[in-house]
Amino acid sequence: FQPKLLAGCKVVMTAGPTFEPIDPVRGITNASSGKMGYALARACARAGAEVVLVSGPVSLPVPPGVRRVAVQSALQMRDAVLAEVPGATVFIGVAAVADYRPAQTAEHKIKKSGDTMQLVLTPNPDILAEVAALPQPPFCVGFAAESRELDAYAAAKRAAKRVPLLVGNLVQDGLGGDDNEVVLYDDNGRYPLGRASKTELAKRIVDHLADLLVDGAKR
Ligand code: PMT
Repeated sequence: FQPKLLAGCKVVMTAGPTFEPIDPVRGITNASSGKMGYALARACARAGAEVVLVSGPVSLPVPPGVRRVAVQSALQMRDAVLAEVPGATVFIGVAAVADYRPAQTAEHKIKKSGDTMQLVLTPNPDILAEVAALPQPPFCVGFAAESRELDAYAAAKRAAKRVPLLVGNLVQDGLGGDDNEVVLYDDNGRYPLGRASKTELAKRIVDHLADLLVDGAKR
């Protein structure tokens, strides 16, 4: 038996990496497998939510009851998210969005030469911050992947992006594997969820999220 904690909620999520093309065969990406985001999408669907998963390129099956919108780049991810967010109760950013993209994408394959090469990068939009700044934002949940000083950086990121709930993890714990160790940060404090499988942690995150939604509705 699983309580339908998110019944009646539309949850829009991002997961996986983004791929920023340099030319038709090359690009910039990162090592996100999508496992954390897909586990959370599955947990939200099992909790009764309508789930839209805007996903960068990963090799994972679509979880049952989840609608996947497949994208490649951060700009495509942003467009897909902004199209889905109206009417959403919750937005969760699990994707490892590339902070920069090549300023120009070559139309044809760049030919090799013996010379050094410089790539000019331009910043990508911050999808989570944009959604959180909408006039009537959904309840926003961010993730923070840090390689050190998790508490300090995660708290700073929660404040900078103005999100009520942030899930912090160390890249060495979270990236790629089946397990993770996460800490939740919200207005009331810090909640270490310990080390467990991403499936189990996703359930614990949904429990915490559902409590916050109930508290918010009471106010
Ligand atoms: O996919 P796995 O292999 O399972 O790994 C899981 C994970 C480590 C990728 C995941 O748990 C995680 O931490 N995801 C967030 C990674 C990240 O990019 O964090 P960040 O600190 O750079 O970004 C902070 C938040 O802003 C995130 O919610 C991110 O989705 C969002 N963001 C960041 C940049 C940007 N341009 N747009 C965004 O929406």
